[in-house]
Amino acid sequence: LTPKSMAGRRVLITAGPTREEIDPIRYISNYSSGKMGYAIAREARLRGAQVTLVTGPTALTLPCGIDVVPVNSAEEMRRAVLERLERTDVVIKAAAVADYRPKVRAAAKVKKGASELVLELEKNPDILAEVGAMKGDRVVVGFAAETHDLIANATKKLTGKNVDMIVANDVSQEGAGFNVDTNIAKLLLRDGTVEELPKMGKDELAGVILDRITTLAEAKGRA
Ligand code: C5P
Repeated sequence: LTPKSMAGRRVLITAGPTREEIDPIRYISNYSSGKMGYAIAREARLRGAQVTLVTGPTALTLPCGIDVVPVNSAEEMRRAVLERLERTDVVIKAAAVADYRPKVRAAAKVKKGASELVLELEKNPDILAEVGAMKGDRVVVGFAAETHDLIANATKKLTGKNVDMIVANDVSQEGAGFNVDTNIAKLLLRDGTVEELPKMGKDELAGVILDRITTLAEAKGRA
């Protein structure tokens, strides 16, 4: 593949965690660093793509030359993605979206009181499943971070969310997943192919993921 193999492609990437507010000073979130999504954004830009990065809060330096859309909650991320879907060729959902959010966000700080406090949660929308349902001839890629039954769970996401590829990684393995610079991934495709990749840097993995996306886009006539 040539360095400009994604020239002109409009690529939307989500990265990082989401924050679900409990009150004005507290939230629920996860350990996602955003490193994988940012690495993909940088690499896609190097390959000539027009990149939009919808990012939850991270400590990373924003890549140059791309359109950055900062968001906090899953609902904000959903809106940012759906608003831009029409003018997008490739969607890569590397964000660790919180599955649940507090049912009520208190307008004022929740004060210390009784010895127990019950926090009621409600389900967040599944952005990837929504995008998958209306993907048309776009290439849509999701991630699956699992601690057990990796292939079975990732296959369920591949078909259940109607996406073209799942990047699956067993986050219980050392050197894979959240907050490290390496990853050990398996790429699952809809034809049943499972490509097992060795441990590699997230930058290098970003390149492999974009190689496969370019092939998928070519097959759909989107490259
Ligand atoms: O179901 P699970 O959260 O493990 O699926 C992971 C994939 O789905 C990731 O690509 C993630 O970005 C996406 N996702 C989403 N919206 C959610 C939950 C997950 O887009 N509410």
